[in-house]
Amino acid sequence: MPRFEAIDWYDTPRWYDLVFDEGTEREADFLEAVHAAHAANSSRSGRVRAAGPRRPRPLRVLEPACGSGRLVAELARRGHRVHGFDLNERMLEFARARLAKRRLRGSLALGDMSAFTARGRFDLAHCLVSTFKYLQDERSASKHLRCVADALVPGGLYVLGLHLTDYASRSRSRERWVARDGRTRVVCNTQVEPARRSQRLEDVRTRLVVTTNGRELRSETRWSFRTYDVRELKALLSRVPALEHVATYDFTHDIDSPRALDGELLDVVLVLGRR
Ligand SMILES: C[S@@+](CC[C@H](N)C(=O)[O-])C[C@H]1O[C@@H](n2cnc3c(N)ncnc32)[C@H](O)[C@@H]1O
Repeated sequence: MPRFEAIDWYDTPRWYDLVFDEGTEREADFLEAVHAAHAANSSRSGRVRAAGPRRPRPLRVLEPACGSGRLVAELARRGHRVHGFDLNERMLEFARARLAKRRLRGSLALGDMSAFTARGRFDLAHCLVSTFKYLQDERSASKHLRCVADALVPGGLYVLGLHLTDYASRSRSRERWVARDGRTRVVCNTQVEPARRSQRLEDVRTRLVVTTNGRELRSETRWSFRTYDVRELKALLSRVPALEHVATYDFTHDIDSPRALDGELLDVVLVLGRR
């Protein structure tokens, strides 16, 4: 069996970024469209892309746990005023270098999404790709939502994407991504063990195999995510009355395909509005 070195994959931001960057434009389109469709203070002008050359007004956007800054940079490129923060310094360095290289403006800081006070107020906040599940207990999850609510203007929106758990399933789930950049190829294999229901945790393992000019780097990261089914998610939301559930979508990030928040849907993107 080939050996995998234990490395936090967020300490190798370039490889993380190669794997996830592919969906960035679509996610940014979706975030703009969500604001146009649902923000209480929006012009309700409908979808941004369908509106042709008309650009939405610049938004103040907050990204807790912004990672490599892929969405910070894309939204800054579109003229929005973006602030991101993350716990990992290497991710932040990568994100800063990316903004500098493209001569884009955006502010980045070290911060913990379980407890933060944002400077200023934002029209839109977002946290996609299950990052919210790093908050491993109810207290830090509800605190996070309250901090986000405090950071939003009244009528502002929080877009929160997370994979829900089907507790009835006892099988391991797997996902595989392959990305290329010039002579570098990254293969990312993630597997999630069946949930430990009494603890509300699921164990996740990600393995990266990075090949450059015939040399191979193999790394492995293990962590646990907090689990939610739809009932647990609704119970959490009910503890944060400053945010109301406005709409639900799924990981296709298609503004024309709203979904119901029921037990059927596992890849959930919630739109929460600041009361
Ligand atoms: C899957 S990445 C998501 C990055 C980015 N939001 C994106 O969509 O590409 C998860 C990020 O969450 C960060 N993170 C994990 N726990 C955190 C916490 N408590 N506070 C702030 N950042 C955290 C990690 O350092 C990592 O950069």
